[in-house]
Amino acid sequence: MFNTAAEVSNFVAEEIIKQVADNANTNLGVATGRTMDAIYHKFVQLAVAKKMDFSKMKAFAVDEYIGLAKGSRNSYERYLHLHLFDQLNFTPENLFVPETHLNDVDKVCADYENAIKSAGGIDLQLLGIGLNGHIGLNEPGSAIDSRTRVVGLTSSTRNSNKVLFRSEEVPLTAVTMGIGTILESKRCLLVATGETKADIVQRVVNGDINSKVPATALKQHQNILMVLDKHAAKLI
Ligand code: GLP
Repeated sequence: MFNTAAEVSNFVAEEIIKQVADNANTNLGVATGRTMDAIYHKFVQLAVAKKMDFSKMKAFAVDEYIGLAKGSRNSYERYLHLHLFDQLNFTPENLFVPETHLNDVDKVCADYENAIKSAGGIDLQLLGIGLNGHIGLNEPGSAIDSRTRVVGLTSSTRNSNKVLFRSEEVPLTAVTMGIGTILESKRCLLVATGETKADIVQRVVNGDINSKVPATALKQHQNILMVLDKHAAKLI
């Protein structure tokens, strides 16, 4: 636990740097959202200062909306380019995001799972947490062995993400890596900052594994670290 969100960002950014320094071929699982903004900002600063090479790294987005205009600035693909990869010597083709504009979404999901497998699996999975305990966009009720699939978004998630949207409505559906997919990653960092996350963090830490709070599934993971600031941790 850290005192401030800035210290959390610093820690997580350094963890990503260490991971890539140890293995230039790292497969990184990348979440989006406000918590991640601060982390990616810090990470880019450090990585640029260290002149690190990301050309061999692969990155896999944890989720993507369905129904946005192609190239929409609200899409997670655009977000990840802007906040992260456009600022590094990253190979753009090495960013994998579910292609939600294709008609055969089931094939898109199966292909995404195969892309992760063929790359050798995810080495480090970064995760934020939704107010209702979602990870990726695995909303309450998601099965612990769920795979990459189409999901409906709850009104809690749509409301919470609304402030990040410009000119489009928050979609009703998305593609997300499943809980089972996430659990197969070699290491996970679950990050939460700020008082708004205190209640859900408390429910995850003190509760048993329960699909009503999807993030509790991470308790089954062998190598998970929860990274919190004191505000998010205050009800534990
Ligand atoms: C969003 C994202 C998640 C993210 C979570 C928390 O819906 N799809 O990947 O972890 O909600 O977001 P924030 O950090 O903005 O609270």
